[in-house]
Amino acid sequence: MLKPIIEVVNAQKSFKTGDRQELLVLQHIDLKLYEGEIIAILGKSGSGKSTLLRMIAGLIQASGGEVYYRGKVVTEPMRGISMVFQTFALLPWLTVLQNVELGLEALGIGREERRERSLKAIDMIGLDGFESAFPKELSGGMRQRVGFARALVVNPDVLIMDEPFSALDVLTADNLRTDLLDLWQEKKTGLNGIIFVTHSIEEAISMADRIIIFNSNPGSIRADMKVTLPFPRSDLDPRFRNQVDRIYTLMTTLQEEAAKEKMAAIDMGYRLPDASVEEMTGLLELLNSPEHQGQMDLPDLADTLTLNIDDLFPLTELLEILRFAKVSKGDISITEEGKSFVEADILERKKIFSIHLKKYVPLARYIYDQLIRHPRHRALEENYLSLLEDYLSESEAERVLRTVIEWGRYAELFAYDYNSGVLSLENPH
Ligand SMILES: Nc1ncnc2c1ncn2[C@@H]1O[C@H](COP(=O)(O)OP(=O)(O)OP(=O)(O)O)[C@@H](O)[C@H]1O
Ligand SMILES: [Mg+2]
Repeated sequence: MLKPIIEVVNAQKSFKTGDRQELLVLQHIDLKLYEGEIIAILGKSGSGKSTLLRMIAGLIQASGGEVYYRGKVVTEPMRGISMVFQTFALLPWLTVLQNVELGLEALGIGREERRERSLKAIDMIGLDGFESAFPKELSGGMRQRVGFARALVVNPDVLIMDEPFSALDVLTADNLRTDLLDLWQEKKTGLNGIIFVTHSIEEAISMADRIIIFNSNPGSIRADMKVTLPFPRSDLDPRFRNQVDRIYTLMTTLQEEAAKEKMAAIDMGYRLPDASVEEMTGLLELLNSPEHQGQMDLPDLADTLTLNIDDLFPLTELLEILRFAKVSKGDISITEEGKSFVEADILERKKIFSIHLKKYVPLARYIYDQLIRHPRHRALEENYLSLLEDYLSESEAERVLRTVIEWGRYAELFAYDYNSGVLSLENPH
């Protein structure tokens, strides 16, 4: 029986929010990374993917359960595990070579060896000739390569990557991904395993041997799928498309289940999706167009709008919350109400949106009711912020409040003054 390099056993993580509450972010996480494996993690925003990676890398501690690296309990950053982030903090006053050498300095390696190994890593990652360039001279893709060189120069056993390509444009990302995969397959890096988080189903399928799909609230592992397609994998291959569809269906089924559970009781502290009314309306217009007749396959929809799942799911979730559309088995279809909304003129749209917002989003209704009752029809946003912090982390509370304010302003349910942070009734009667 193969021994795992990394083993996460029944791990759990919670964070303190506000004064009273503990926010449970991860629960019952069991995960093994075996020799020679690439694992991709997919899941909704906020489902705890980065938290899990940081736990594995020893940057934070589990609140329960254990993380093992080659049989040893991880309690701090381990030699042998390198981490790659979405963007790297390169020091602007150091050259490429010096930035890469930084990775070795911390290990107390002598000057000459440092230089030699760094030059090798730079060469390997395709930056030959740029050793003495400064970060500002480099494109985003090249800067990310410097980051990779810095992570690889220590000869890590395992690479942990948190959305390593998502800050890059499509072509650059594609290029870097292919190069990394080549290095891995030719065993040039000395790596024995990779775990990475991505928002792209295609990216997961193109690289991974296994794909882990996360549930959210709290984050847990919902599915663990093997990808057995031979390399190089082409997204034009029907088997590839088939995998994409399966994962879409699985992820939307998850959303559906979560929606059923929560729609019945979306409460004040519900993590409202990060979706704008304009985008939501655009999506509905496309859906309602003669070409699509109110129904679309989600992967097609994402393709047509060039959205990744992380941009798409918040929009479909908002549509479902407002009862403007329904998602089922990888398809989305417009409802009667969604149709009336999208076929109405601007004023009528606002009216319909406002009715649905009050009816289905308790936080919006609560703010509105309070403003009605207040003698001068005003309230400070801070009040709502501290209320939300009982349910959500500080930054999430802020995001949710910003989102609901944006919706409420569109609906003309209330007005908001950015400078004073005062909410007021749009048309007090
Ligand atoms: N240090 C912290 N203190 C409090 N809450 C935190 C902390 N770190 C993360 N959280 C919360 O934990 C939850 C999961 O966060 P995490 O960053 O792991 O999600 P994610 O799946 O990586 O999301 P994304 O896809 O947006 O990167 C979020 O609700 C977040 O607000
Ligand atoms: Mg993250």
